[in-house]
Amino acid sequence: REGALWGARFASGPSPELEALSRSTHFDWQLAAYDIAGSRAHARALAAAGYLDADELQAMLGALDRLEADVASGTFGPAPGDEDVHSALERGLIERAGPEIGGKLRAGRSRNDQISTLVRMLLRVHARTVSHLLVDLVDALAAQADRHFDAILPGRTHLQHAQPVLLAHHLLAHAWPLVRDLERLADWGRRADASPYGSGALAGSTLGLDATAVAAELGFSRVVENSIDGTASRDVVAEFAYIAAQIGIDLSRLAEEIILWNTREFGFVTLSDAYSTGSSIMPQKKNPDIAELARGKAGRLIGNLTGLLATLKGLPLAYNRDLQEDKEPVFDSIATLEVLLPAFTGMVATLHFDVERMAALAPQGFSLATDVAEWLVKRGVPFREAHEITGAMVRAAEVRQVGLEDIGDDELVAISPHLDPEVRSVLTVAGSVASRDNAGGTAPDRVREQLAALTERVRTL
Ligand code: ARG
Repeated sequence: REGALWGARFASGPSPELEALSRSTHFDWQLAAYDIAGSRAHARALAAAGYLDADELQAMLGALDRLEADVASGTFGPAPGDEDVHSALERGLIERAGPEIGGKLRAGRSRNDQISTLVRMLLRVHARTVSHLLVDLVDALAAQADRHFDAILPGRTHLQHAQPVLLAHHLLAHAWPLVRDLERLADWGRRADASPYGSGALAGSTLGLDATAVAAELGFSRVVENSIDGTASRDVVAEFAYIAAQIGIDLSRLAEEIILWNTREFGFVTLSDAYSTGSSIMPQKKNPDIAELARGKAGRLIGNLTGLLATLKGLPLAYNRDLQEDKEPVFDSIATLEVLLPAFTGMVATLHFDVERMAALAPQGFSLATDVAEWLVKRGVPFREAHEITGAMVRAAEVRQVGLEDIGDDELVAISPHLDPEVRSVLTVAGSVASRDNAGGTAPDRVREQLAALTERVRTL
């Protein structure tokens, strides 16, 4: 068969049904530039080992340059008969270098070690892109925290009013997981920094090629330790898909809050017109579609991960064609994050907070009750008793539909002799927030330090 990478031992060519199933060029063409880079490095290794003379190497590299230019300009592309990106590019090379020279390149390599290397190369490039986009989002959160440093948010547990916190503290609580995602990508990069090129189909090669030189030319600091592992493992791909899914989950949790905050009932934020959408029928609508798409795409990212894991489960060593299924999910995760993150960052950077409304709601729901209990503890009351006394205060206030600070002096003493008017000193939101000054607490001084620490962590990544 003309142009195919195999066929001599077959009496007939593949059926059209097989070709249609087998073909992967519609997604692995993304790897074309990496494949050509690999071919260049491999040609040099062949020449160094004496399999190409200097003229042949020059002819080979010249043809690869022309092929690369033709791929970049779209002049050369996959044909229906090409099984995958490797088959198409070998056809293109032979068209340019002739069968004599072009036919020498395949010695000592297999599509199995090629594909495993090329996917790592692509993922390493996109890990950097995604990291930059994540840093932008962390910066946007940090800038919002800084801009609204005095703003108070009703902190919640179980979605119920719990204790007031600084808005900055809450926003940074969304930034830290993203910082860890950045660290995960960096840590992943150390495992991805090993080249499988030279592993051959599974067992290595007899030709004595310098795999370390190939690895270095392709940007890897080392070669995989085991050729079977190098060609058959995809945990590096799955781990990337996991980090992408975790980023999706981290975005979706903030997205859900923005959706709630943007409701009339909450009224905590207004979205910029440039980062919200309208309704085709209801003229008044302004919808948080970016946040909703983030929430929805988190499901897609999780699906890509679980689909890939299911593909890998139970695969015997070494290479199996199932492994061709690794690419579409992880390529989709990359494309998803690279379109989602810039929009999400734009939405966050332009969020307008209604700080008066948040401050007005912060003391509601008896959110300062814990402050009363801890005030009692500081006066020597065991916490168990302090909890009960404060609970009785809440009940009394609830019955009269007033706040804790509205309970009169006589009533306080009636609830417990430990209570006196001085307790009102802790019944302010600002006092409550300022007094939570433990490490990692919401006191303004601690949050200032936290913001500086976050900025430093991102800077030294
Ligand atoms: N297209 C394959 C993949 O993506 C690589 C080629 C290996 N094919 C083979 N028949 N050994 O995994």
